[in-house]
Amino acid sequence: MSTGLITQLGYVGMSAHDLPAWNGLLTRLGMQVEEGAMSGRKALLVRLDELSYRIAIAEGDADDVAFIGWEVPDRTVLEEAVAAAARRGVEFAPATRAELEERGVLAMYWAADPLGVRHEVYAGPTVDDRKTIDRNLLGRFRGGPIGFGHATVFASADAYAPALDFYQGGLGLVESGRRDCLPTEGTPITLLRCNERQHSLAVMVPSGTPGKKIAHVYAEYAELDFLGQAYDAALDLGVVTTTLGRHQADHAVSFYASTPSGTELELGWDSRLILAGARIEKFRAQRQPSIWGHRKAGA
Ligand SMILES: [Fe+2]
Repeated sequence: MSTGLITQLGYVGMSAHDLPAWNGLLTRLGMQVEEGAMSGRKALLVRLDELSYRIAIAEGDADDVAFIGWEVPDRTVLEEAVAAAARRGVEFAPATRAELEERGVLAMYWAADPLGVRHEVYAGPTVDDRKTIDRNLLGRFRGGPIGFGHATVFASADAYAPALDFYQGGLGLVESGRRDCLPTEGTPITLLRCNERQHSLAVMVPSGTPGKKIAHVYAEYAELDFLGQAYDAALDLGVVTTTLGRHQADHAVSFYASTPSGTELELGWDSRLILAGARIEKFRAQRQPSIWGHRKAGA
């Protein structure tokens, strides 16, 4: 897919065994959770802005990511994007009518990356009637045209380069930053963007064998007070894994919480926006890649 056709990270789908526990956690974090269906199973549809969902959690045993959705403006661009990906050796398959129905989109193609994660490129998401948006949700999250946040996936050392080829060649994402280092120095990571967000996808090589395909999903609050309230809630629930801190790469102030699936959520505020054509940045190898904070909880 040629560079620049994808405009935002649209949604992330998870497969999880304990939907009630997820519902409880996400509700306490201020998200609007609705019960629905996905892939023929019970699902939680999590709304953060005007779209009908940004995170979908379907009942299943994987407790891992099930799909990642990327938005393009319309059907014409979608066809262009799929043709461009094919020229670069990445074949996307058209979605079935049932899949379009489930995702609530007008058109969609998909392909699996070298890590086994299903990526869906779509046009025409369902924009919900404002009347159905909980008043408490309005203005709480920063989403809209820049997408709701980012996903960070784990790659084994062997799959790291092929995965990056897929994201750049197949999806047309642009590398915005990278940290190369030995495992003893920290975690190699590459950050990829598709709009003004410093990254919408991150690929990380963990020091051991990755137990999950996804490390975390990041969602962003519109105001510091909303993040602070979420931090209080996560502390009360005992799910904070990494304390509040500010990242070196996207400048987000954030903390990390464990989820009932053994994956993490990163909740943040105030990430920087970058201009189109901005430089790629190389980050120093260091154990603590944050300006301040982000300590392991309990350490
Ligand atoms: Fe992150």
